[in-house]
Amino acid sequence: MAATWKMAIGDAAGGTQYELGEKFAEEMGKRTDGKVKINLFPNGQLGSEQDTINNASMGMLDLSILAINNITPFSPSVGVLTLPYVIHNAEDAKLLTQGAVGKELAQNTIRDAGVRIVGWAYSGCRRLTNSVKPVASPKDLEGLVIRVPKNEIMIASYQAWGVNPNPLAWSETFTALQQGVVHGQDNPYITIDAMKFYEVQKYVTDSCYVFSLEPLIMGEGAFQSLSSDMQTAVIEAGAAATEHSYNYLLASEEGIKKSLVEEHGMTIVQPANDESEWIAQASTIWPKFYKSIGGKDKLDNVLGVLGREPAPEK
Ligand code: MLT
Repeated sequence: MAATWKMAIGDAAGGTQYELGEKFAEEMGKRTDGKVKINLFPNGQLGSEQDTINNASMGMLDLSILAINNITPFSPSVGVLTLPYVIHNAEDAKLLTQGAVGKELAQNTIRDAGVRIVGWAYSGCRRLTNSVKPVASPKDLEGLVIRVPKNEIMIASYQAWGVNPNPLAWSETFTALQQGVVHGQDNPYITIDAMKFYEVQKYVTDSCYVFSLEPLIMGEGAFQSLSSDMQTAVIEAGAAATEHSYNYLLASEEGIKKSLVEEHGMTIVQPANDESEWIAQASTIWPKFYKSIGGKDKLDNVLGVLGREPAPEK
């Protein structure tokens, strides 16, 4: 039987979320002989990213692509992927999401939030932008109001850098920047470009405190109601779209970074002292979140997969 599914997308068209969504729709079409058609609704048209989790879990929405940090409040164990300076680059992100860690977190998300992660978009490191001044060290944040997602880990990161950020829904961020309610925010180069933040932001700090992962989720009830052939199609289409997203990031991030400077007049600022103050201060918050991510062992396991030393006790 033919079906049309709705997919919510938090970002504007042109970013990694949309790219993942289009590829998933194309792959589903191929695998079901066109029986499943997917309509994409970018720019938060179907509600804030956090609202779409509730809607998908209650069967009111088929699919949503949103940032991992907006899932953490519903399924705290995925916070292990948003702890500052755990994921250093795209290879780390791929290793974690496509291996045993990703599988366990996907199971936890079904259990805690009633949604199934069926694919991942890789968007790159989150870079701090602001409209006021070059920011090279945490002390340069003084006097700036920075928007963060409604995510305890990200709020605590900024507090460790000495400021109190302003937690705001993603769907409200552009307007808040435009109206000067907040001076800055952080998101990857590809997202800064897709959202046209260069119209309201001048400086970008080339930092990498969190790597932005954007899962494609489906309500677990909706997934379980599918035939087993259809479930296989969803899983395979998700895997193909995930692979595409990874290659898209590698192929496009540098060019987009260059165009933000050359075409859109942004100024890129290098973090002072190889980002060492940012790293040292933000990493002090890890122990505060051991409990919510399911214990320090979970972080040690992630660090082990990445070939790094276990986390400090305190
Ligand atoms: C956020 O900052 O809330 C998200 O990372 C935005 C996004 O989904 O790209």
